[in-house]
Amino acid sequence: MRLAVKQFWRHIRRARASDPLAARKFRKQFEANLQECTWKPHPLYSVFTQYDQEWYLAQKEAFMHKYLCFYAVSKTIAPRKIIELGACAGASGDPYLSAAPEADYLGIDVFGVNVRHDDGAEWDPYKIAEQLFHDRGFKNWRLLRTNLRHLNELPAPADFVVVDASHDFDNEYADLQLALTANPTFIFIDDADDENGAKPAIEKFLKEDLRDRVAYTFAVNYVGGGFVIRLKDARG
Ligand SMILES: C[S@@+](CC[C@H](N)C(=O)[O-])C[C@H]1O[C@@H](n2cnc3c(N)ncnc32)[C@H](O)[C@@H]1O
Repeated sequence: MRLAVKQFWRHIRRARASDPLAARKFRKQFEANLQECTWKPHPLYSVFTQYDQEWYLAQKEAFMHKYLCFYAVSKTIAPRKIIELGACAGASGDPYLSAAPEADYLGIDVFGVNVRHDDGAEWDPYKIAEQLFHDRGFKNWRLLRTNLRHLNELPAPADFVVVDASHDFDNEYADLQLALTANPTFIFIDDADDENGAKPAIEKFLKEDLRDRVAYTFAVNYVGGGFVIRLKDARG
């Protein structure tokens, strides 16, 4: 992680952690879960086989680490209900659900069809996510094809909301506000390090929407960066 990015998250952490003990416990548990993680990407359905697989294969080690971090984040949170904004073909839903197989999962996306770069065949993320989740044997999942900008609120409460749709400032900020409507305990933002989009949106969200509602935050160190926000319990 670049020095400026590290300093930024350190500053945010200091300013926002009202429960440093719980923050330390989360970090220790996350590190243990990451160490013990044996999750493997599905041989047919993952970012290493998707339409633009060459991008991920060229940085395989870095992206393996990222998806193992997804598993460890979910294992540490142990959610009962997960909503993912930007589910795409389920490549990230897979580690989130593998780590919490009893959880309900709702993946929201426009599920736009792409063309494979290698052979020009159609690549349909909705169908692939269905095949992946069936093949993994997950029981409690649902995919919702909709544009997030058409939603005023998420369709159900969730203790764990993942924000990984468009990462430009306006969409990131709107998605963070939308995440809050599920009354989550944890919000997890993927690709949080983008200094022109996600990062200023997260900063604005913390400052203007959450203010004193944050128990702690946790920056996850992987390609693109992840950022966990633990909200205070309703009682304080
Ligand atoms: C970075 S990809 C998600 C990748 C996925 N979470 C993973 O790790 O495999 C972003 C996804 O967000 C979806 N998306 C972007 N803007 C959206 C919007 N306004 N409404 C619904 N989906 C959107 C895109 O279709 C795309 O599938």
